[in-house]
Parts: sequence; structure tokens; C-alpha cells
Amino acid sequence: ASTSRTVAVFGAGYIGLVTGACFAALGHRVAVRDVQPERVRLLNSGDVPIYEPGLGELIAANKERLTFTLDAREALQDAEVAYICVDTPPTASGDADLSRVWAVIETLKGAPHLTAVVIKSTVPVGTGDRVRCALDDAGLAHVGYAANPEFTAEGKAVEDFLRPDRIVIGASDASTAQLITDLHDGVDGPVQTLSIASAEMVKLAANALLATKITFINEIATVCEATGADVEEVATAIGMDHRLGPHFLKAGLGYGGSCFPKDSRALRAMASNSGYPFQLLNSVIEVNDLQPRRAIQRLKTELGGLKGRRIALLGMTFKAGTDDLREAPSAVIAARLLAESAEVHCWDPMARPADIAPWNATVRHSSPGEAMSDADAAIVVTEWPELKTVDWSAAGRSMRRRVLFDGRNVLDPNTMASAGFLYMSVGRATVLPDAE
Ligand code: UDX
Repeated sequence: ASTSRTVAVFGAGYIGLVTGACFAALGHRVAVRDVQPERVRLLNSGDVPIYEPGLGELIAANKERLTFTLDAREALQDAEVAYICVDTPPTASGDADLSRVWAVIETLKGAPHLTAVVIKSTVPVGTGDRVRCALDDAGLAHVGYAANPEFTAEGKAVEDFLRPDRIVIGASDASTAQLITDLHDGVDGPVQTLSIASAEMVKLAANALLATKITFINEIATVCEATGADVEEVATAIGMDHRLGPHFLKAGLGYGGSCFPKDSRALRAMASNSGYPFQLLNSVIEVNDLQPRRAIQRLKTELGGLKGRRIALLGMTFKAGTDDLREAPSAVIAARLLAESAEVHCWDPMARPADIAPWNATVRHSSPGEAMSDADAAIVVTEWPELKTVDWSAAGRSMRRRVLFDGRNVLDPNTMASAGFLYMSVGRATVLPDAE
């Protein structure tokens, strides 16, 4: 970067760590502050508490410019810019819980060199005005404020930060906008400056539109099942229209993760609070909620009931390339199967045991083949690349019944039929096993 700045990052979660590590890589001095002692201890001993490709390497390579602390004072002693990257979970009403944001702002009082406060956390539109008041009340009326939402996907967060489609900066004044733009010197992507409220809205609207695109193809898939079309062929041809684009047209078990479910509900709640029922988004949320349930219903019909059936879940994380189970369809699927008195066996290369502990009665295995042994059916829940190399004939021979529901459309129907499987997938015809 042309000018090295001193940045305090609040929150050492996915967003805070990626932001901190990337700013350090751009040449800034960064102190990351978190309130969890264990997290800070791990980071100081060179461990990274989350799995994100390239993040550990980036932290290690920039460690002379990167510190981790529990102490807000220490993080702020030289900081010119404070980045707020704490989580904003939904409350009972669906409003975002901003208590962690307010707690950070409290700690900013008296920070000697602060010139700008930036929020990266996803917040309701209008939060900027409230933050402004809170800053003024904290004696920080001279400090600029900006909303700089992130658009990083888990599994490629570092790349998304350093090579984004755009950098969105909603700032209180031109010099704050310039400061935040300069902080990103070295990032390969265009900057769009806009009002704070618009910046807040961009994040929610972009995620809701992506969720809508996924849901749209999932609905097309359902219609394909009923009519004999093949959603993979349809999606490929739709995606070749440059106005529509090929991305986010993969039919499956529905979107999950830490952003889409939360942000689409937050936008719906925001609209409802102002008296406007956001019907399209409401339908998206409803359809997505049905998607894993529909899969279980189809499997139940195929197996003639689920009671006492042994079902192998292949993959548990909300998508491949992450260890994250937040809002994963697997949780709904496992719970539904258990509610139907099925026996659930599962495999995942990354999921942490602590995250699946709440699914008691679930047996964990170290390979897909092991999970499928003696099973009445298997469900592909996450598109892990490991599934491409499974010996399906051998795995099938160890099963009680060779039924596979491919919830991500990642396996080849003909290969599965020749391995002796009855193969079901999303938006494609069910394929019967080849005759022996
Ligand atoms: C998303 C956004 O991409 C990112 O910009 C935002 O900042 C946070 O939310 P992430 O949740 O990490 O990132 O994952 P993403 O890869 O976007 O996938 C979200 C969900 O949609 C996953 O459950 C995935 O399986 C599902 N999905 C995605 C589909 O079902 N079909 C698709 O075509 C694409």
C-alpha cells in the first residue's frame, strides 16, 4: 500500500480475521481484538481457530504487522481506523442484535489517534445514523464513519477480499471515503462510493438476490421432476445468457450458511417493520425451508417408510471447502430422519464433533464407504470432492439397499446405475439400477 495505516479490527471471527490478515498483507499494521480469551490465546500461539483456505498462511506471513489481543485499549493505542467485524445475530423479532456493535463503540471512547470507524458487520439500513449518534455521545464527533460491507464467500474469503468484484464504501464525508479507499490500495477491484444507507442495503439486497436465484432454480428443478426435463441441462443453457450468468444456478438441498438465511430473514423483517410485506423474499425463504424436507419425503416414499431404516449422510457442512455447519441443510435432514425413527450415520471430512453433538443418536464415520455400510440409503448432502473418488460398486455391495439420493447433483447417473444403485437427484429423472 502507498501509505501504511494502523488499524484496529474488532472481532476475530471469519470476517475479522480475514479483514485483519488481508490488511496486514497490504502493508498496514493491524491489531485484532476479540473478547474470547481462548480465541486470542490460540491466535497468539500461531493457531487459527477457523478453517479458511490460505488464512493461516497469510497470518503467518504477516505476523510482524499483526497482533491479537483481548484488550481494546491496547488495540486502539495507535489505531487510526477501527473496523467493526462482530456478529449481528437475529433476535426474537428478526431484528439484528447490535449489542456487540454498541459494546465496541463504548470501547472507542478516548482512542487517541482515531480518525474513522468502519462497520463491516451486516446491519439493518439506518444503523449508520444510530452509530453516528453513539459516536457523538462517546466524544468522537470528529471521527468519520463508513459502512464497508463484505461480499466474501467462505472457502474463498481471502481471494474474495483481495480480488473482489467491487469494494463498496458508504461514508459520512469525502475524506473518510478516501481514507477507506486508500486502505484498499493493492486490492484488485473497483471502488463504488455511495451513501451509508445504500451501502447497508447493498449487502442485504445482493445476498437476497443470490438466495432468490438459487431458490428459482430449485423451483424449476421441482417442475422438471414433474415434467421430465433435466434441471442440469436447463441451468447450463439458461446460464449461457449473459444477462443471467452461469452462477448460483445449481439446484440442490437449498442454501445454508451464515449469510443467506440470516440476511434474507433480516431484509424481510426490515421490510415488515416498515409495513411492507416483501412477498417475493417471503416465498424464497419458505421454498428454501421446504427443500430438504421434500428430499426426505421423496426418499421416504421410495423406501416405503423411514422407521428403522439406516441412512448414511454424506457431508454435513453447509457447502464444501468449509468446516461450517451454520444453517446447514444436514441439520434439518438429520433431525427429520431421527423424528421418523430412522438411524442416522454420517461422514464429513471437516465438520467438528462439537458441532454435531446436538444431533445425538448420530453415528460418525471416517469415510463415505464406512458410513454407507449396512445402510438402506445414502444422501449426498454436501458436494465434497472426495465423493468423486468413492468406489460406488464396492460401497453399494456393503449396503442393505442400494439407494442414493444425490442432494447436490454431483454424481453421474449412469455410473451410479451401473454400480447397481437406484439413483435419485434434484430436478432429474430417477435412474434405475442396470440389470446385473
Ligand atoms: C455467501 C455470499 O456468497 C457472500 O457474498 C456473502 O458475503 C456471504 O454469503 P457463503 O455463505 O460463504 O457466502 O457461501 P456461498 O458459496 O455463497 O453458498 C451459500 C449457500 O448457497 C450454500 O449453502 C450453497 O450450497 C448454496 N448454493 C450456492 C446453492 O445451493 N446453489 C448454488 O448455485 C450456489
